[in-house]
Amino acid sequence: MSTVKCIGILTSGGDAPGMNAAIRAVTRAAIYNGLQVKGIYRGYKGLITGEIQEFKSQNVSNIIQLGGTILKTARCQEFMTPEGRKIAYDTLIKEGIDALVVIGGDGSLTGARIFAQEYDIPCIGLPGTIDNDLFGTDTTIGYDTALNTILDAVDKIRDTATSHERLFFIEVMGRDAGFLALNGAIASGAEAAIIPEFSTEVDQLEELIKNGFRKSKNSSIVIVAESELTGGAMHYADRVKNEYPQYDVRVTILGHVQRGGSPTAHDRILASRLGAASIDAILEGQRNVMIGIENDEIVYVPFTKAIKNNKPIKKELVNVLRILSI
Ligand code: F6P
Repeated sequence: MSTVKCIGILTSGGDAPGMNAAIRAVTRAAIYNGLQVKGIYRGYKGLITGEIQEFKSQNVSNIIQLGGTILKTARCQEFMTPEGRKIAYDTLIKEGIDALVVIGGDGSLTGARIFAQEYDIPCIGLPGTIDNDLFGTDTTIGYDTALNTILDAVDKIRDTATSHERLFFIEVMGRDAGFLALNGAIASGAEAAIIPEFSTEVDQLEELIKNGFRKSKNSSIVIVAESELTGGAMHYADRVKNEYPQYDVRVTILGHVQRGGSPTAHDRILASRLGAASIDAILEGQRNVMIGIENDEIVYVPFTKAIKNNKPIKKELVNVLRILSI
């Protein structure tokens, strides 16, 4: 059983819709279980600068529907150094915080893993990123909302693409993961997705052309995942202009619009369940795990398993897209 009395909560890395729902859930579940809660501002930076405030139930009222994060977020360089982490630990001691809930993506959970290795403090991670690139959870907080934002944009672009009979390359986020691009392509009825996971296997543009895309259609939409590996949408547009000048090509980069907006029902429920489960985990004496949901069940995933490129893209999805885009 746990001896934890006060938990600290922070959001870190790229914000994701649903982070506020998670902050609300962690705060209220903690208070419900008799724990004190402290909100740490600007991610790990707040642990270094001491920007910390006690949270009562009212502090998280009326935020479940809001995008972004009321705790603000940052990518903190100082926390990446041993000196920075020492200051962070001293702050935790001073504030009487004896467990930490970190809501963030790959980089943020890597920070939590290193911190937990160096100091004796239970850290619980919640997967908060639009990229969906954390292993051990079916989806991450923010991914569903971002996917729906992509659909909204692609549906609109299709109107103009069809009218002008053009080929559009639409770049979506995902850092080095193709989940947004691939599922965005399936859901929007796009002709293809170019994703980093397959960039070393085949020349994805040649495959597209070889498979006769646009033969029977008057417009085409190709979703490209941002990534150094794919080269992004501009790279493919330039190639088509040079190698297949018969196509009238345009590019749209959706950018940070994908990170904003009110979270979908899926993301609110996911964040609420994960947030409540993080307090159960702390009370059970769990430490240094990410909470995920797999097959509708709460699971505890060791940080080392959750982070960095462990989550595979299903080949089946690639096939579905290929078959349905003929
Ligand atoms: O990790 C979330 C994410 O939105 C990625 O998809 C993207 O590559 C990155 O953050 C952008 O980061 P920033 O907002 O710092 O430009």
